[in-house]
Amino acid sequence: MATYTIVTIVGSLRKESFSLKIANALARLAPPSLKLDVTTLENISFFNQDLEAAPPADWLALRDKLQKSNGVLFVTPEYNRSIPGVLKNAIDVASRPYGKSSFLGKPVGIVGNSPGALGGVSAVKHLQNILPGISGPILGQPEVYLNGVGDAFNDKGELVREAVQKVLQQYVDAFAAFIEKHNR
Ligand code: FNR
Repeated sequence: MATYTIVTIVGSLRKESFSLKIANALARLAPPSLKLDVTTLENISFFNQDLEAAPPADWLALRDKLQKSNGVLFVTPEYNRSIPGVLKNAIDVASRPYGKSSFLGKPVGIVGNSPGALGGVSAVKHLQNILPGISGPILGQPEVYLNGVGDAFNDKGELVREAVQKVLQQYVDAFAAFIEKHNR
């Protein structure tokens, strides 16, 4: 059976990030056909068009990793009803050079979350606006907006709330089928 590598981009830099914990939980729950490469963005330089002629090594490494992958999974919180700036910056970096986005053709999944009531739905919707011009197909169903994630983990960062585990399992199984379909 083929193994597909999925760059799993975490939209938060916070050490105790719920998004990071969810990404790690998804990596554990993923079927053997998927290898989730959990990727954080603290080393990505600010996008600056002046640097495009001689891009920084961190931009090139991110682009290369994406190009070699079989798909991309975003796990993100919502900041002020949109995506965090660090995530938008990384997308801008990987979308260039113009016409040569590193997301091109890559099947994409999106998992929104929040300790609040709305589960990061606006961040997910904004990603669904941003990506179509620069990526491959986006998995639209099932939708995942995990709310109230603040008490879903124990002190070791392990997912302990069963209902969340169930939703993530359903999602990662559906995502695996989607990845397989788009990598044939
Ligand atoms: C937030 N938070 C937040 N939550 C939400 O559901 N909708 C929102 O619009 C916002 N806006 C927002 C802006 C800023 C600048 C911060 C710092 C936070 C709360 C946010 O969901 C919470 O801090 C999460 O814990 C952030 O995700 P990580 O770091 O746990 O992955």
